[in-house]
Amino acid sequence: MAIYRSRKVGKRNSNNETKYVQSKLQFGKKESKIVKCPKCEMTYTLGSIDDKNAHDKYHDLHLKGRKWSNRWGSLVRIPTLSNIAEITPPSSSRASVLTTGLPIGDKVVMIQPDNANEVKATLEILEIVNNELNAPHDENDFWSLPNESGRAFVYIKNDRAVGVITIETLEKERCRWMVYSSKSIVANIRPNFILGISRIWVCKTERCHGIASALLEAARNHTIYGKPVEKWEIAWSQPTESGGKLASKYNGVTHKSGKLLLPCYI
Ligand SMILES: CC(C)(COP(=O)(O)OP(=O)(O)OC[C@H]1O[C@@H](n2cnc3c(N)ncnc32)[C@H](O)[C@@H]1OP(=O)(O)O)[C@@H](O)C(=O)NCCC(=O)NCCS
Ligand SMILES: [Zn+2]
Repeated sequence: MAIYRSRKVGKRNSNNETKYVQSKLQFGKKESKIVKCPKCEMTYTLGSIDDKNAHDKYHDLHLKGRKWSNRWGSLVRIPTLSNIAEITPPSSSRASVLTTGLPIGDKVVMIQPDNANEVKATLEILEIVNNELNAPHDENDFWSLPNESGRAFVYIKNDRAVGVITIETLEKERCRWMVYSSKSIVANIRPNFILGISRIWVCKTERCHGIASALLEAARNHTIYGKPVEKWEIAWSQPTESGGKLASKYNGVTHKSGKLLLPCYI
């Protein structure tokens, strides 16, 4: 058993009085060490079982997505995406690619608010997303409650949810154009966008494979039943750096001044 000796630390102040700091006796306990995981960037205490369990769960979800039951979510078709298939399918399975427009085995599902299990699983993913984005954790009612007009879509790969988007419907008062290069809002112009991207996220190991683009296309085609909206009618809320790059590729619009504008909302 390691025993750390108690000692008083004396320091003289300007009145020449000695100030004492109370030390603590510690029996059988090593000093705890705070570490930061280089892969998921979570900070935790080495040696703490609670922290280890919390880190294991966060790490797995953050890097590889959340395990997903094939009974959860209603399958959506993405007619515009047949060209993102990266895997060349054997001829017998080509029909599957053409039906969903995604690589074989991958799918996008819409979350059904009346299915408590799929809502709960999606909320777990969004907890990670909100931590990463430093975003509020209580902005879920618009997609998770029945009879609301928002939606959540999840991208499934190898039985894991590897990406998510939550979408709300917008009132005109909230819509603005943002100049991409300066991040400034264009004054005095009130565009009319229809949908707002509340959150969009892809787990770390699956980024840069077109998954966010597929989620955007699912949202564009399936948020309002029977009415696909134009790409520029989907607005961003305070885009992050990677979100801004995605936005500039997906639905930035070049103004006659030559500046790239992003549809945004406040
Ligand atoms: C932003 C994010 C969702 C993008 O997901 P993704 O699946 O990697 O995006 P895609 O592969 O569909 O990207 C489509 C295009 O957007 C651009 N793009 C997306 N992310 C980019 C990045 N980090 N750097 C540069 N360009 C990027 C590219 O032009 C890309 O097309 P290309 O690969 O053919 O060049 C993902 O990086 C993420 O989850 N980031 C953390 C959460 C976040 O910041 N969300 C945005 C909130 S506004
Ligand atoms: Zn980690």
